[in-house]
Amino acid sequence: MTKPLNIGMIGYGFMGRAHSNAYRKVNNFFDLEYRPVLKAVCARDKDKAQAFANTWGYESVETDWKKLLARKDIDAVDICTPNNLHKEIAIAAADAGKAILCEKPLAMNSAEGEEMCQAVEKAKVPNIVWYNYRRVPAVTFAKQIIDSGKLGKIFHYRANFLQDWTISADLPQGGAGLWRLDVAAAGSGVTGDLLAHCIDTAIWLNGGIKNVTAMTETFIKERKHNLTGKVEKVGIDDACAFLCHFNNGSLGLFESTRYARGHKALYTFEINGEKASIKWDLHDLHRLQWFDHRNEGPLRGWSSVHVTDGEHPYMGKWWVPGLAIGYEHSFVHQVADFLEGLAKKQPVSPTFRDALETQKICDAVLASAKTGAWTNVG
Ligand SMILES: NC(=O)c1ccc[n+]([C@@H]2O[C@H](COP(=O)([O-])OP(=O)(O)OC[C@H]3O[C@@H](n4cnc5c(N)ncnc54)[C@H](O)[C@@H]3O)[C@@H](O)[C@H]2O)c1
Repeated sequence: MTKPLNIGMIGYGFMGRAHSNAYRKVNNFFDLEYRPVLKAVCARDKDKAQAFANTWGYESVETDWKKLLARKDIDAVDICTPNNLHKEIAIAAADAGKAILCEKPLAMNSAEGEEMCQAVEKAKVPNIVWYNYRRVPAVTFAKQIIDSGKLGKIFHYRANFLQDWTISADLPQGGAGLWRLDVAAAGSGVTGDLLAHCIDTAIWLNGGIKNVTAMTETFIKERKHNLTGKVEKVGIDDACAFLCHFNNGSLGLFESTRYARGHKALYTFEINGEKASIKWDLHDLHRLQWFDHRNEGPLRGWSSVHVTDGEHPYMGKWWVPGLAIGYEHSFVHQVADFLEGLAKKQPVSPTFRDALETQKICDAVLASAKTGAWTNVG
């Protein structure tokens, strides 16, 4: 018999769907002590929330997240709202003794993130942040390869996250769907939205970052605001590039933009070590490119490992070797690991405290872009 874990989800947009799908699937593929129960979804518009509840099988609907947190029948709160609401909801959820699964970035900045860490640590509630790319099997496999020492000393870490959806100057900012362009709701632009993913993966794979030097650009300076109807200054970064020193002595190069015409969600990273290199690309997410300098002779070259064998991370839980899985499975894996951690009473990474490190790096990147100076993290 599995133990129920009653989920209360706040927000039913893109991530609300990705997480609901994961809660519904996880026990069909993973043997777990806990089973998520879709107890309640919360959003301000009752009819839309009810329609979402009907589609995904939530038992009830709330229109005020404070009421959701007051419910005794909710064990875990899933925060799928825009970034400016993460802190208030997470601190209240911790005070109410709920486990918390919070979307990334953890907060609007690291000062807020620190308060959130203190709240969950004081309340001793299980907590995790949805940096889901760690749990794409090929990325988890990259971690295993690096930890085994196969790359030798690491010299370079390079990552990109490229999109092209905000190029039109007619695109408004703010409100449903476009809160990402509104600094008051998002905190920052591509830095907190996209580079945060690249940074989380990077520090997980290659260790901490010491200092950064960055540049940002806001190409469209003013946009109509959907909530006020007025043309207002744009406060987010449309593009950001930064260099950094990792604590292990390697050099980092990161770039993100929403102005790379032709790219929708091109997240790539490459790591160059003394003995070998690896490369990964979200558009081909179950492949890991591998170059091993120890292979001698004319056949030495890049090879492409199809990360779909039963011995690859998570893959033994899915189909038969050779059959691929996709984006949505990274969320299923995160739920599976979180539930396993609950059963063992152990924290599962990235906790709020882990995600705070990414937030501190984002803060240093944005500060450096303002001053033009190398900036220490933290
Ligand atoms: N892990 C990832 O890869 C990933 C991908 C996309 C978004 N995100 C993060 O997820 C969060 C949500 O992003 P999204 O793309 O799902 O946004 P979205 O705009 O699709 O959905 C946001 C939801 O929040 C709801 N909401 C807003 N204010 C609310 C309030 N006061 N009370 C209750 N509900 C409220 C909206 O109605 C909407 O349902 C953000 O923090 C974002 O950075 C993470």
